[in-house]
Amino acid sequence: MIKIKSAVEIDKIRKSCEIVTETLELLKKHIQPGVTTIKLDKIAYDFIIKKGAIPAFLEYRGYPLTICVAINEVVVHGIPDNRKLKEGDIIGIDVGVKFNGYYGDAAITVGVGEISKNAKRLIDVTKMALYRGIEKCIKGNHLSDISHAIQTTAEENGFDVVRKFVGHGIGTKLHEDPQILNYGPPNMGPILKSGMVFAIEPMVNEGTHEVEVLDDKWTVLTKDRKLSAHFEHTVAITENEPLILTKFKDN
Ligand code: MF3
Ligand code: CO
Repeated sequence: MIKIKSAVEIDKIRKSCEIVTETLELLKKHIQPGVTTIKLDKIAYDFIIKKGAIPAFLEYRGYPLTICVAINEVVVHGIPDNRKLKEGDIIGIDVGVKFNGYYGDAAITVGVGEISKNAKRLIDVTKMALYRGIEKCIKGNHLSDISHAIQTTAEENGFDVVRKFVGHGIGTKLHEDPQILNYGPPNMGPILKSGMVFAIEPMVNEGTHEVEVLDDKWTVLTKDRKLSAHFEHTVAITENEPLILTKFKDN
């Protein structure tokens, strides 16, 4: 069942989302060669707590920390540790918080210093795929219109979308119905209605879409060890335009 949120509830989700984007903006400033991902995690944890919010991923199904990181061939759900970022890496950072009973969730992928042309292109295309999906978040559209827009954007640019992980509804739970696939034909699934709130999160691979999970049971990486990028926004469907609740100040 896809829950319809009232304006008051959407406002609560917006507050959580603001903390998420502020956290990501703060982390972006610390992305540089030599910084460890555990340091980034600590910065995020301290900031979220200072805001009176709760890190949404911490202890979620046993996840041990605040943020998920994804360096280079890691797709999603990498656990922060003492590894240092180095020039040319790309890093995905995923942040979720709970505030006043409502969740917000977003992810970005950024380069560390100078990155290769193809890495930059992968990042740009993944972000574009997310925005093409968001453009379909219009009442009256079908759910899979989002999926289809994401897939075609990635594939037209020579990349492949990950099948194994999906976006999701979000509200009083981090993961609510529906599952939002990042691929598929248009015109399928439920009709979008004003008041639905989705976390849309394409993962796009430089090589094939196939992934595997490390023995830590969390870290997802590409089977071919080529690069992967991930972007996520929490978005509300309204009477008019899609409303991006995790919008950054700069884009
Ligand atoms: N944005 C991701 C998701 O919605 C992050 C979840 S990490 C977990 O699934 F640790 F909470 F599982
Ligand atoms: Co999510």
